[in-house]
Amino acid sequence: MRNRVCVKRFLIVAAAGLLLFSAGCKTPSSNIADRKEPEPGEKIEWSERELLMADFLLYNVDCASSADSFADGEWAGLCQTVPDMPYGEDPGSHKTWGYRKSDYLVPETDSLGKGNTVTKWTVDRDTETEIKTTEILYDFEVPEGTYNVYLGFYNPFSVRKVDVDCEGNNVIAGEKILRYQTNELSFETEVTDGELNLKIYNPEGRNFMDTPILSYVKIAITPEYTIELLSAAVEAMTVENPEVRYTAESSKAYSENLEKAKELLSGKGSNGTNSIKLKFENLRGSFKMLTEKYRYDSFHPGAVWRDTENTPIQAHGGQVQQLEIPDSKTGKLVTKWVWVGEDKTNGYRGGVCAYSSDDLYNWQYEGIIMRNVASRSALETSDYFREVYAGYSSEELDNVALALNADRAVIERPKLIYNEKNKQYVLWFHADGPTETSDSNYAAACAGVAVSDSPFGPYRFVGRYRLNTCPADQEDKYPQSKGMARDMNLFKDTDGTAYIIYSSEENLTLYISKLNDDFTYLATDPAKAVYGKDFIRLFPGAQREAPALFLKDGKYYLMTSGCTGWAPNQARYYVSDSVLGEWVNKGDPCIGDDSHTTFESQSTCIFLEPESNTWIYMGDRWFADTLNDSRYIWLPIVFKENGDMEISFVSEWKLR
Ligand code: DGJ
Repeated sequence: MRNRVCVKRFLIVAAAGLLLFSAGCKTPSSNIADRKEPEPGEKIEWSERELLMADFLLYNVDCASSADSFADGEWAGLCQTVPDMPYGEDPGSHKTWGYRKSDYLVPETDSLGKGNTVTKWTVDRDTETEIKTTEILYDFEVPEGTYNVYLGFYNPFSVRKVDVDCEGNNVIAGEKILRYQTNELSFETEVTDGELNLKIYNPEGRNFMDTPILSYVKIAITPEYTIELLSAAVEAMTVENPEVRYTAESSKAYSENLEKAKELLSGKGSNGTNSIKLKFENLRGSFKMLTEKYRYDSFHPGAVWRDTENTPIQAHGGQVQQLEIPDSKTGKLVTKWVWVGEDKTNGYRGGVCAYSSDDLYNWQYEGIIMRNVASRSALETSDYFREVYAGYSSEELDNVALALNADRAVIERPKLIYNEKNKQYVLWFHADGPTETSDSNYAAACAGVAVSDSPFGPYRFVGRYRLNTCPADQEDKYPQSKGMARDMNLFKDTDGTAYIIYSSEENLTLYISKLNDDFTYLATDPAKAVYGKDFIRLFPGAQREAPALFLKDGKYYLMTSGCTGWAPNQARYYVSDSVLGEWVNKGDPCIGDDSHTTFESQSTCIFLEPESNTWIYMGDRWFADTLNDSRYIWLPIVFKENGDMEISFVSEWKLR
């Protein structure tokens, strides 16, 4: 009876891998009753494959569970057929194991727990037993051998301490069980007498908050690292085309480890125990970590939306459009959906991300297409920036460092437009940040432009500009700062003319201004621009932002929001017979939006999915304190016979 103690504590974050293990292999308990019974002290009788399939677990006890079978995704150890039981003979395996009953031990359920931490043993609050003598006892019949024991504690109360004795020896003393976490403690022990004995207690316990708790017990045979084991592992853990079903990162690690294990088996390299152990554990670990890709076949407005690598999509304040782009592998032109938006991975400030898709449900990450810049010097020291900004003068680089500064610049609402004449992709965005005279994040109030020859960049910043100003014969709502440009969008008309639509005059008035043929600046410089021909002002004083302009059946529609920071407000849309024409207020298109918050979202783009003829409203549900977790609200738009727009909320929907 010797214990080799190695206490580990960690927060369980990767339970999915373990569940996958059981999903990949059949639950081993099904035919357990047919097995030959070993005598106490007899050697381990399971085959390598059986052990592998059970992940070496002889017991996988879900403490205090009253279920008589294992839930989906949970699996029994080789010696058990029920999740938990009082000490006695297992009904299926006929092994003797279980918890020792006592008058103070009570089951408890944790609504915050998951899987095997939903139920746990705890001590009755009203027990008259002296607290420091309360204990949780488990005994397990096992063959002679070395075992890894894992004890799980989900603690919804204050930090408490725990001691563990195994085989009569203290193996864990005064370990802290942290609050609101799954704490796992593990150690290795040898068993020579046919029974593994565990005692969980707190000798310093003074009150109820100090009493022992226990959510799960796992007892695993320490593997014997032999060639046979590695060979069985390669056979049991071979997955065809893992990259199709699993994320690129997890399938790459798995494939590499499988390859290395096969190399060893084919006689390459050392086949000493340590090499076998390394290859085996790497294969086993990466097999468990294979992570299935999310596949969507519907929209789930407001839910976390993951890309094809399972990472939440970062494309806020964005735009979706269909583009003919070169295929990344073949270079041939293919039609794809392209989504560009703000990268809020690190919060408020970030660059611009892009994603591509064939079906609008599943999005492949295409990277940060326009990066922000940590410092002026980074433009000259980083290979990436040196290449992107090759040929820029020192003064131009100063401008890049100012407009894309990672600590100061604000880059919002990026929108992409393809310029056929120049075969160039042009990215416009709300380029803001403090100025020499103001520390406000929205002092610059400019429109920024960046260009690239390829849809997914890298985009190089060209400039940021103030735009058109209120003509002298009209009432400027904010004369103290001319030509402001904040929330913006782009629109290309049927004749190829492109426009920028943006909030100006301190967000009090929307403007629509014509772009030049390159789409990189205004058609006419503000000093010479002619009102009605080069630009128009819309709804002076109405305070509208988040514009989204589109053309349907010869009518132009302009969706907008009010201006309330990150908080949602009531939408309003307008219609017109031409872009620079008369726009008529049509009110709020939302139906059943009782809180008048556009279903807790703010518009950013409206586009047509041509195959199903579905117009899609794209909005952002901003979470001001956790901007990176802000959600996307995509909803189908219904057009009435008279052309009026209606948007209703649906929590899940599909294209027809
Ligand atoms: C509302 C705008 O629409 C957003 O893009 C962002 O600028 C927030 N205001 C900041 O409060």
